[in-house]
Amino acid sequence: MDYKKDFKFLEKNIVYFDNGATTLKPNRVIEKMDSYYYDYPSNAHRGDYNISMIASTEFEKTRDLVKEFINAKNREEIIFTSGSTESINMAIYGYFMNNLKSGDEVLITKSEHASIVIPWFDLENKLGIKVKYIDLNKDYTFSIDNFKKMINSNTKVISIAEITNVIGDKRDIKEITKIAHENNIKVLVDASQSIGHIKVDVTDTDIDFLAFSAHKMLGPTGVGVLYGKEELLKEISFIKGGGTSISFDSPKKIVYKDLPYKLEAGTQNIAGVIGFGEAIKYLNEIGMDYIEKYTNELKEYLVSKLEDNENIIMYNPRVEGSILIFNVKDVFAQDTAIYLNNHDICVRAGDHCDKKLYDELGVKNTVRISLYFYNTKEEIDKLVKVLNNNNILEESLGI
Ligand code: ALA
Repeated sequence: MDYKKDFKFLEKNIVYFDNGATTLKPNRVIEKMDSYYYDYPSNAHRGDYNISMIASTEFEKTRDLVKEFINAKNREEIIFTSGSTESINMAIYGYFMNNLKSGDEVLITKSEHASIVIPWFDLENKLGIKVKYIDLNKDYTFSIDNFKKMINSNTKVISIAEITNVIGDKRDIKEITKIAHENNIKVLVDASQSIGHIKVDVTDTDIDFLAFSAHKMLGPTGVGVLYGKEELLKEISFIKGGGTSISFDSPKKIVYKDLPYKLEAGTQNIAGVIGFGEAIKYLNEIGMDYIEKYTNELKEYLVSKLEDNENIIMYNPRVEGSILIFNVKDVFAQDTAIYLNNHDICVRAGDHCDKKLYDELGVKNTVRISLYFYNTKEEIDKLVKVLNNNNILEESLGI
């Protein structure tokens, strides 16, 4: 299917291969946000007049859409945040900080994003918990066996991405959660890279906490979700208090509102949440199974084409998914990115907020291509042609 017509940006003929950083926004998402600003630009949950009630209704419709999209049991389990990073931090500082003690162990891997690694190590410094790495397989994917080996009576949490942002491997979250729960271990999953690519089902997988951002699934930036099982969210001591989070306030007594409002203090990103709802509707129409299958096939095509170029070093060619990291021999990753930019191809270069993994890979940086359903084989053909040039370094430097 050709989805290009749904994205005005793509009329520019720019090849956008940085979907792991953020996806493009379909016209209908932008139009939906515009209509909020043009037609009912009021605060939500506060006004006793028509346009405020429309804003509240549209805002809450997105909560229902998210609930259905991830198959949560009830809508109170959906908390709007500013993005994955805030969602993960909310779970770690709002729940785990109150429920872990010195000596408890948290399992992560060297393939996790900084938004997981940093708060956990901060908690290690604050509480005396121990953050431990589960060894990865030789191809840098997750190893269930290594996870099992790390479990002991002190293990209290496993905190990993469902799909990682550099290697792009998909973890078997259902199996991991089953093993974790048999050992009284809580599961916090970063779904930033999976939510727009595969079917995510919190009830089937029995995850305790799940974090994701709207902007990696066709929605606007500045909106995210923390899903948590209701009994766990109820225990979160909020990390910000203010309007809508309390129902009564006196100098001595604060009464918190029920979920989800207890954890949504202050005016929310109303236009963003409403636009996010439109993104979910669009994804539902396309179908997550189609997106997963299509992007997997596109990656296979990309790898098969690049294999013919002996100057290309690929680091995760056999990992199923939509992400490929590579370097051009003797060319610094950023120089390759600049060269590709000169040909209207957008890629990300660097260590992708994951320095520990790059220590394992033995390189400082790579180029990353992250595909989505609106990318095409023709775009890949263009990339392959442009990379079949022996003067990439000279051209990127303009010499
Ligand atoms: N976490 C995003 C990425 O991997 C920004 O590019």
